Amino acid sequence: MVNYIIKKSGKFLPSKEMKKIAWIKDKKIYKEAEKNPIKFWGKLAREGLKWEKPWKKTYEEKPPYFYWFKGGKLNFCVNVLDRHLDNPNKTALIWVPEPTNEKTIKLTYKELYDKVNRFANVLKKLGVKKGDVVAIYLPMIPEVLIAMLACTRIGAIHSVVFSAFSADALKIRLLDGKTKILIGADGYYRRGKKEDLKKKVDKAIIGTKVKKVIMVNRFNKNKNYSGKFVSFEKEIKKADLYCKPVIMNSEDPLFILYTSGTTGKPKGIVHDIGGYATYAYWTTKWSFNLHENDVLWCTADIGWITGHTYTFYGPLLNGSTSLIYEGTPDYPNYSRWWKIIDKNNIAVFYTAPTAIRMFMKAGEKFLRKHKLNTLKILGTVGEPIDKNAWEWYFKKIGKSRCPIIDTWWQTETGGTLINVLPGIGPFIPTVAGYSFPGTKHIVVDEKGKRVKEGKTGFLVQLSPYAPGMLHGIYKDNKKYKETYFKKFKNKYDTSDGAYIRDGLIRVTGRTDDVMKVAGHRISTAELEDAINKYKLVNESAVVPIPDKIKGQVPIAFVVLKSKSNLKIEILEKQIKQEVDKTLGPTSRIAKVYFVNDLPKTRSGKIMRRILKNVLNKEELKGLITLVNPNSVEAIKKIVENNK
Ligand code: PRX
Repeated sequence: MVNYIIKKSGKFLPSKEMKKIAWIKDKKIYKEAEKNPIKFWGKLAREGLKWEKPWKKTYEEKPPYFYWFKGGKLNFCVNVLDRHLDNPNKTALIWVPEPTNEKTIKLTYKELYDKVNRFANVLKKLGVKKGDVVAIYLPMIPEVLIAMLACTRIGAIHSVVFSAFSADALKIRLLDGKTKILIGADGYYRRGKKEDLKKKVDKAIIGTKVKKVIMVNRFNKNKNYSGKFVSFEKEIKKADLYCKPVIMNSEDPLFILYTSGTTGKPKGIVHDIGGYATYAYWTTKWSFNLHENDVLWCTADIGWITGHTYTFYGPLLNGSTSLIYEGTPDYPNYSRWWKIIDKNNIAVFYTAPTAIRMFMKAGEKFLRKHKLNTLKILGTVGEPIDKNAWEWYFKKIGKSRCPIIDTWWQTETGGTLINVLPGIGPFIPTVAGYSFPGTKHIVVDEKGKRVKEGKTGFLVQLSPYAPGMLHGIYKDNKKYKETYFKKFKNKYDTSDGAYIRDGLIRVTGRTDDVMKVAGHRISTAELEDAINKYKLVNESAVVPIPDKIKGQVPIAFVVLKSKSNLKIEILEKQIKQEVDKTLGPTSRIAKVYFVNDLPKTRSGKIMRRILKNVLNKEELKGLITLVNPNSVEAIKKIVENNK
């Protein structure tokens, strides 16, 4: 087995073998890029993508907006598919269905190209035009990629909604995008059971502008539909084989992806074509040292940004092979992922710390039969990785021979911004690393002044902003400006805390009311809004606490409208169900405490920090600013008595 790393003066660094295969092995690249980031990205955009017309200006900033490759023309789908057709039989996608008796399906670039062309024609026939928003509510099946690429071929903007989200969550997104076309599915397999998506689709479209729903049939390919519904399989069969790509401007929107902010309403993050494509291409290639014949498996669902950039678009823009798996990691048992890695010669494996901690807990017996010797690079994303999880991942999965690339980034940034490169290192547990070449991050204090090395502060990005960065919030200029560019002038506010030591950045977590539950991003406001929908609730406050597996879990403090005759356990269960119904089960409330009063300031603001202090048994500061300081003592007692 090849060792891609060596230990030198207590540090893990790339080995000779790694250097041999690394795209980037010289630290000089950082200096070069820093000298003139605009020129650097211009060169990479030309080299990495196929442009129909060159741009006039590489970068333009009109705060708070900025534009990459303005005037340049291209089609995203051509870059993902058409230009790889000189190698038509190369596998683009490997799909592993969850049921073990179903066969793995492989799609070559040519097969994918044909399906995408046909489906683009289906969309056109249904009236989809350049600039329309098409919603995609599909599980991890090949059709999700076909649908996304078909949109990009005709210049439509896709808005993918995580299939585990509830009907309500889908509806909010359909309304915001004024979406007329929705691509849904009858369902998918999860832990051996059939999950019904159609039921949620039926509920979500009521009261929206959706005119047509194209249904992918995971269970019954011959199913007939009527009314608003048509069958994906039947329509695609009837469609013409070729669809001319629509040539777009670099700054046109490519997709919208909703994410949680600090309010109850999710924000539609917009990514543009040229900047995003350039960034997805190069960050995939360099951060994961991806070569054309490598198979990459990023376990992120397509409902998240990681699914967009590193499950699909990054690897395919590079002409490599991507693997997706429909089901859960523990089906039929905790060996499933390792089996998939061995069987499909996975070279790059990218997952979240929560998954790693889950496997740690499951035990090593599930690993014993698996060689994992095709792995070259391991990646992690989505939340801070603790030392234990890092070491387990490094030893048990990477067999102490693969570098771990800890990538820090956000839905807004489109691609990874802070990580070390495999050919450079160093690979240090819990440390993300350097800003990606051509990008710059610093740590500042409340006033925006740079803090000293080793001191924790706010992580900000400096201009020129990375090409993968968001292109605004859909239909909400004000929110865009306020969220990212208000706190620190001329700096992008990441809302993360961090410190820098020896030039290496360590991210310490969110500084706003957003939490990461099993790597999923959710705001306290969204959870509180969902809880407050329950008929007996007067008001609530949600705070995160650390969790051994999920990183963080939400804890709710609830004030009821009046005393209820229902047992506390029943009330708690019903509140949790209410949250599931509104938001889906990904960020389930771990515990509900019923209290008489919530700590508030004189202006009525709930002091969540104090609730957090109570849960973490920390010193209680700032009680003097409360209008009801006695509430805290009462809450403390309730927490102590209801562990
Ligand atoms: O707090 C950071 C955390 O995840 C947030 C972004 O969440 P989301 O938009 O859902 O995107 C996740 C996938 C890119 C960040 O603000 N985060 C992400 N990666 C890391 C991380 N925290 C620490 N280390 C990371 N590697």
